[in-house]
Amino acid sequence: MIGIFDSGVGGMTVARAVEQLCPGFPLIYLGDLARTPYGSKSPAMITEYSHRNTEFLLRQGAKLIVIACNSAASTASGFLRSHYSQSIIDVIFPAVAKAAAVSKNGRIGVIGTRATINSGLYEQRLQDARPECRVYSQACPLLVPLVEEGWMERRETKMIVKKYLHPLRDKQIDTLILGCTHYPLLKKIIAPRIGRKVHIIDSSVEVALHLKQLLDTDAELRAALYAPDTPNRFFVSDIPSPVHALAGKIFGRTVLLEKIDV
Ligand code: DGL
Repeated sequence: MIGIFDSGVGGMTVARAVEQLCPGFPLIYLGDLARTPYGSKSPAMITEYSHRNTEFLLRQGAKLIVIACNSAASTASGFLRSHYSQSIIDVIFPAVAKAAAVSKNGRIGVIGTRATINSGLYEQRLQDARPECRVYSQACPLLVPLVEEGWMERRETKMIVKKYLHPLRDKQIDTLILGCTHYPLLKKIIAPRIGRKVHIIDSSVEVALHLKQLLDTDAELRAALYAPDTPNRFFVSDIPSPVHALAGKIFGRTVLLEKIDV
């Protein structure tokens, strides 16, 4: 099983992309909705929650972990990798690799939660991948609650997105990383406001592509994870009322959410 965790529903955009790109490889998803949002918590707290989530997924039989939350990936991935021998992949590296490859002018924007932007990990990894690039980051703390309220098409959301993107427009970026797994749900309103020519990198799709590439090239991993008759399961640590609608919007179908304690 592929274990995927996020603070809540955002990581379902990753789970959906994995379902589509890696058929036959069952996944277990954990959305820690009881403790969401992670993006405004301290690194110590996010690490503690990520540790518990990983323990849960491994107990359920996960053989590989996907950190489908940029806030968790940017603060806890080092701890998790040093603590567990299982393969752990996260949303940041694949998005960085793609941005470094596609940007023509080397001016790259990153938007994410406060935890993600404050960690500086996107900047660090982008500089490692492409030392001459200029990285412009913008924390967008209001966007996650707006998505969770289902306000994706509201005028207020469009105004807030425009305000957050304004400083990045001024920097003439040609590539923008959506460094939060909630933001793919806002892509339609982000694209026209950052400028149609700006290449938008969706960290959810990139991590699923990265996983697919791993499965295509690593026969041992493929054999350990291939189980076409095993159904996908979706666990959450709480079921607040808007979650079913949001999950349905992401998957395009009704998803059975199983409540557990982590
Ligand atoms: N999904 C989280 C991320 O990618 C955002 C939600 C949160 O703050 O917990 O950063």
